[in-house]
Amino acid sequence: MSNARRLSLPILSVLLVAFATACGGGDTAAAAGGAGTGKAPAAAGGGAVAAQEARTLYESLCVTCHGTDGKGDGPGAAALEPKPRSFRDAAWQDAVTDEQIQKAVVYGGAAVGKSPMMPAQPQLKGKTEVLQALTGIVRGFRQ
Ligand code: HEC
Repeated sequence: MSNARRLSLPILSVLLVAFATACGGGDTAAAAGGAGTGKAPAAAGGGAVAAQEARTLYESLCVTCHGTDGKGDGPGAAALEPKPRSFRDAAWQDAVTDEQIQKAVVYGGAAVGKSPMMPAQPQLKGKTEVLQALTGIVRGFRQ
């Protein structure tokens, strides 16, 4: 009966070490991928991870109103007045700073004198790389 007990501790240790190694390996691979894309020089290492997270965030939190093409024609925009502007508008792109875009995202539309229907995402506060990548997505819609 004590056999099972004697075995369990070493097995558990092996499993823990294997788990820790697997996690470490995953991080290294992701960081290497970030350096390889060359897309986010300011965010070397975590760049690919931040870009992926921003893409997922845009699709889950922004597409409803701003649309997949940034035109402001998502299904959630139909009932809004004013409607979200089109991110394709070059004149708007020139007029707005990255800081203003990020302020609108983190603190909501009301914080930048826009519609309060633009929701705040306070959980992104301080997540510089993700916010930068999200701004890059918004900028990328420019025509
Ligand atoms: C519920 C609908 C809705 C969702 C969801 C939403 N927005 Fe908005 N957004 C708006 C509206 C409405 C405005 C303001 C339009 C106005 O007042 O001119 C706005 C404004 C903005 C602005 C400022 C544009 C300007 O005129 O300066 C940015 C940038 C922006 N949204 C980005 C995002 C991002 C990024 C997300 C996802 C994290 C998001 N929005 C989610 C509706 C939404």
